[in-house]
Amino acid sequence: VHSHLEENIRPYIDLIDTLRSVGIHKDLALPTIVVIGDQSSGKSSVLEALSGVALPRGSGIVTRCPLELRLKKVTGVNWKALIMCMLTAQNELAGKGVGISDEVITLEVMSPDVCDLTLIDLPGIARVPLKGQPEDIGEQIKSLIFKFIEKQETINLVVVPCNTDIATTEALKMAQEVDPEGKRTVAILTKPDLIDKGTEKSILKIVHNEVIDLRKGCIMVKCRGQQQINDDIPLEEAAQMERDFFQNHDYFRCLLKKDKATIKCLAIKLTQELVDHIKVKILATLKECDGGPPQDPKGAKQFLTQTLKRFNDQINSLSSGELILEENLFAQLRAEFKKWND
Ligand code: GDP
Ligand code: NA
Ligand code: MG
Repeated sequence: VHSHLEENIRPYIDLIDTLRSVGIHKDLALPTIVVIGDQSSGKSSVLEALSGVALPRGSGIVTRCPLELRLKKVTGVNWKALIMCMLTAQNELAGKGVGISDEVITLEVMSPDVCDLTLIDLPGIARVPLKGQPEDIGEQIKSLIFKFIEKQETINLVVVPCNTDIATTEALKMAQEVDPEGKRTVAILTKPDLIDKGTEKSILKIVHNEVIDLRKGCIMVKCRGQQQINDDIPLEEAAQMERDFFQNHDYFRCLLKKDKATIKCLAIKLTQELVDHIKVKILATLKECDGGPPQDPKGAKQFLTQTLKRFNDQINSLSSGELILEENLFAQLRAEFKKWND
């Protein structure tokens, strides 16, 4: 991730984590990035490429609980993923087999190689029930997905393979239902190496926002195909292959310059989205804090929750990006949160 984007991001992400650890997310939705899409559309591949963590994958339904991936950039830490624990946790929550649960599994990843993001992977939308699944599994998964994506505070990543009819994808329809103006929906087009020759131009129209109205836009990524996974191609090598793919592509090469292609570009865009979102929130909090919070910890927490709730309603009308906080104001606010946390 570019250093100029990173330099001011860390404190904001810390702040979100502090808020989460205080338990405020139970009363109020904090900004989160949620990944949705059909089964096998490439959700896990995208998350894997963003996080550098090998996620459990396979055919059929693998993700059966919401999986929260908290990525933290930390230097001097060597991290190994314990995916087995995750699968055990999932069996515990959703039962062994093919059932789903809406209990969230959290996985914290600290590494020098990730960017600061929190992402939630959700079960893929199933069309046909598998053996042993209830008839209405598709509906169950959809209502689980709606629970997450309908929150005004989430940024919805909709993963759609390039080799499908993109504009009519179920996941995109669901995102449009909860976010008709496309203010918090980002489309990610996967598998550009598997398209039907001749469809390039119509795909480009979608990336350029000429077909669906997505204000936050559309990014194309190429992840590892099944053969590359079988061959254990490392993620760094896959990233280089992704770059080569776009550079050598007659139609999609133009997307590199427009920041509309590659996982790296997606990571930068997401981090920036989150930071813009938080900046707006913090500024609004400061505005509301006339008189300051009560001194006792309980009252202070209540005050903060109420304040955050109030500007939740205002947040959508504020335009993000232009609001920059003064460093000292921000430090003060953080100190406050820390105090309440203790
Ligand atoms: P999920 O079910 O949505 O989590 O999908 P996965 O990430 O497990 O991917 C499903 C299959 O698509 C796997 O075999 C991946 O290797 C493959 N895949 C994902 N992205 C790409 C891509 O960009 N190109 C190719 N060729 N295959 C991909
Ligand atoms: Na899958
Ligand atoms: Mg998956």
